[in-house]
Amino acid sequence: MSNTLNGVVDLDVAGATISRHLYGHFAEHLGRCIYEGFWVGEDSEIPNTAGIREDVVQALKDVSIPNLRWPGGCFADEYHWMNGVGPREERPSMVNTHWGDVVEDNSFGTHEFMQLCEMLGAEPYVSGNVGSGTVAEMSDWVEYLTRSGDAPMSRLRRENGRAEPWKVPFWGIGNESWGCGGNMTAEQYTQLAAQFATYCRNHDGNELYRIAAGPNRDDYHWTETLMKSISTLGGPVRSPKHNGWQALSFHYYTHASDDWQHKGSATEFSAEEYHETMVRAWRIDEIVRGHSRVMDAYDPEAAIGLVCDEWGTWWDVEPGTNPGFLFQQNTMRDALVAGLHFDVFHANARRLVMANIAQTVNVLQAMVLTDGARMVLTPTYHVFAMNAGHQDATSHPVQLTAQSQYAGEQGAYPTLTTSVSSRGATALVSLTNLDVDDAGTVRLDLRGKDWQVAKATLLAAPSVQAHNTVDEPTAVAPTAFDGARREGDTLVVELPAHSFATVELTLG
Ligand code: AHR
Repeated sequence: MSNTLNGVVDLDVAGATISRHLYGHFAEHLGRCIYEGFWVGEDSEIPNTAGIREDVVQALKDVSIPNLRWPGGCFADEYHWMNGVGPREERPSMVNTHWGDVVEDNSFGTHEFMQLCEMLGAEPYVSGNVGSGTVAEMSDWVEYLTRSGDAPMSRLRRENGRAEPWKVPFWGIGNESWGCGGNMTAEQYTQLAAQFATYCRNHDGNELYRIAAGPNRDDYHWTETLMKSISTLGGPVRSPKHNGWQALSFHYYTHASDDWQHKGSATEFSAEEYHETMVRAWRIDEIVRGHSRVMDAYDPEAAIGLVCDEWGTWWDVEPGTNPGFLFQQNTMRDALVAGLHFDVFHANARRLVMANIAQTVNVLQAMVLTDGARMVLTPTYHVFAMNAGHQDATSHPVQLTAQSQYAGEQGAYPTLTTSVSSRGATALVSLTNLDVDDAGTVRLDLRGKDWQVAKATLLAAPSVQAHNTVDEPTAVAPTAFDGARREGDTLVVELPAHSFATVELTLG
């Protein structure tokens, strides 16, 4: 069979809203993400506002970054927030044992993070320390950030230069508690999550959306253990008086092998590694659906959200860089992994309320890579930019009638994926052609509304290894695309091999 996807879409039937938070980000104190990536300090020659570099902020604003998760990751469970407030020269330092064993001087702390979020126009997602912290410490951090008046923590915040409380919508109760966050069992963590969540109070109208640290990959037992506890947490989940958490998160990374010592090069990979990558990337579909099924059994109304607060590709670090800094290049292959993930996320938007790519700058599947004062946008960045119109739009499920597959030694994956959303008088269609060698044709029968093709954009490259560098920053960049046309009621899109495209429609 030639490489094809055929489907039917009812533009007059609304699916779930695609939360803008599915386009969320993650920035950890890891390698050059926070330091150099975001924070250069007020005395830097790199243009900055209060120490935060302006080029990176502008690039992220351009893709409408909706939220930023911080300070980790594994780092969150050894981070003590009190060390990161007050005069910078007086802040104690610590060893970042997870990432490179480097000394962290805490110059980027709570106030700097909140300033960064304000500059980005992004909502903060703070990840609290369960692994090595205390309930009181987490409770105080919430009070410090969100309480007004004359409470002990709000007084301290005021002394540190910020009179008004901030709004903090998202709060993480630990990170990977099954691993770096404490090596706990699901049962142990479930108890602790209830305890910590209880003391993360809603102060002065700041209603926290507490996110419990959920499973790794497809650990459905962890999800089920957490979900079994919801009836004991007290009150309707979304009520401000509810004592528990409102969502649970899972993590899923894409590698080209199970060998952590040899995850594969980011830029020099074989056709076999490419197929292995896509087989593993496609597992996100089964995993999101699997966790959703478990949650449906306990919460059929989907009051509890599913969050994928770490996803993306994880390759060997770039040669010559610190292995603990997780700095990797980003190719057309990474862009295709992102396109595939978003199609899966859109299809599961009823339960999946947030996702955060790991990580925003200079670490793993980054949006932006910096080199001194220079910055480069990655192919993955362009997928976020081209897909931005899906944020908070209404999804329209695609009923597939045909979908080509790759099947080989490594397993199987669909070679073409797509998703559709609309907002008012426009619709956005995303299309990913994972076939490394062959062009593909997508035929979508668009029903229920009249429509016209308004604009199409293509992200393509001569090879899946193509990538951008500071010397060649536009090797992979979006271009105007003439491969989309209307045939009767059918949208026909001819996609080059290994490419990503979006088509904007005007609705009648
Ligand atoms: O993103 C890098 C690390 O991956 C995070 O710190 C951790 O949560 C995960 O294992």
